[in-house]
Amino acid sequence: MPITQTREIAAASRLEHVRYAIRDLACYADEVAKQGHKILPLNIGDPNVFDFVTPAHMIEAVYKAMREGKNGYAPSQGVKEALDAIRGEAARKGISSLQDVFVTTGVSETVDLCLTALVNPGENLLTPSPDYPMYSAVLAKLGISLNTYDLNEEDGWQPELDDIKRKITARTRGIVLINPNNPTGSVCTRKMLEEIAELARQHNLVIFADEIYDKLILDGEDGKCMAMAAVAPDVPVVTFGGLSKNYLAPGWRIGWGMISGDPAAVKPYNEGIQKLLRARLCANHPEQYAIKAALEGPQDHLIEVRKKLRSRRDLTVKWCNSTPRVSCVSPRGAFYAYPRIDIPEGDDVFVRELILQKHVMIVHGSGFGQKPGTKHFRIVFLPDEPTLSRAYAAIGELLRERYS
Ligand SMILES: Cc1ncc(COP(=O)(O)O)c(C=O)c1O
Repeated sequence: MPITQTREIAAASRLEHVRYAIRDLACYADEVAKQGHKILPLNIGDPNVFDFVTPAHMIEAVYKAMREGKNGYAPSQGVKEALDAIRGEAARKGISSLQDVFVTTGVSETVDLCLTALVNPGENLLTPSPDYPMYSAVLAKLGISLNTYDLNEEDGWQPELDDIKRKITARTRGIVLINPNNPTGSVCTRKMLEEIAELARQHNLVIFADEIYDKLILDGEDGKCMAMAAVAPDVPVVTFGGLSKNYLAPGWRIGWGMISGDPAAVKPYNEGIQKLLRARLCANHPEQYAIKAALEGPQDHLIEVRKKLRSRRDLTVKWCNSTPRVSCVSPRGAFYAYPRIDIPEGDDVFVRELILQKHVMIVHGSGFGQKPGTKHFRIVFLPDEPTLSRAYAAIGELLRERYS
């Protein structure tokens, strides 16, 4: 029978609330680039786009694994060598109540598996606002309504404890803590970790401690951050880590989870995670051999990375605080700043105009979440100083042209 009419294939309605501003914006930038403009991408936290290079000994380890035929499927939980190295890393982080570890296709998959394995329809999970939007995208996909708690800009973007207390309901199963934080660059105090752990104890919550930036602390001596699971060994915690940020290999898509807490309490939940791990076969196989090389090999690159980031952070904060309509809490970790802007229109409008007119791409605060009435944008301060200076000059110019 001839086809007379094209029928649209509708996407599933549960996708209605799935958003990921960081990459959604890139579609718009692609359109502008098609007109022949080169766009400076300050939207994605990918160190390899700039002057950061994956350590050679990690590349060697993957190459060797491929040459040795490690190209088939891997065990669902991860290869033994990698699991042992992650256990060693947990010990170095001071996690004394470790129950299990597993390897995933980036922390993105850890998030997907861990949230899917925990939250039932009608239940909720506390996520920060502003948020790394992967969390809200996964929850939207699962059909779970958002229950966000505020990070307090006036308090250096620390979580607002009273807001967390207000938001906990009988159906709250857990809390996400991103530390060091994306998008604000804040780092939690030990006291804050203890207070959140106490709330988790009282309300039987699982803590998802996303510590993917834990070796990128820009102030202080050793560049490392306090692990939530070390502060609260008795609380069920899943700590997330991976190779994308600390180890400059985001394209390899390697992440992991470390489950800690009381063994009897976490057992059924861990079994749920293991079931999902099996149902998706395995994480990338040869790349898993870089985990031991990364965690146990030379760490020299981190000194260089933190040095560059410190200087780029300082340049960023100096620009923010000397530019009319812009102010910024100084980031203490990771490579993001989340300046506030005082403009009469939406931050999404400003960001689109910036792409269109100045060919610089940053992400609007409304893509991460912010308190009503406030406006922000997120800067990725990975580029070198001359590139950052050019970007900041362009942003300053647009602010002047549009609002003075
Ligand atoms: C806080 C946070 N968690 C997880 C991820 C995702 O990491 P991966 O590349 O390991 O999937 C990112 C990436 O930017 C992130 O910022």
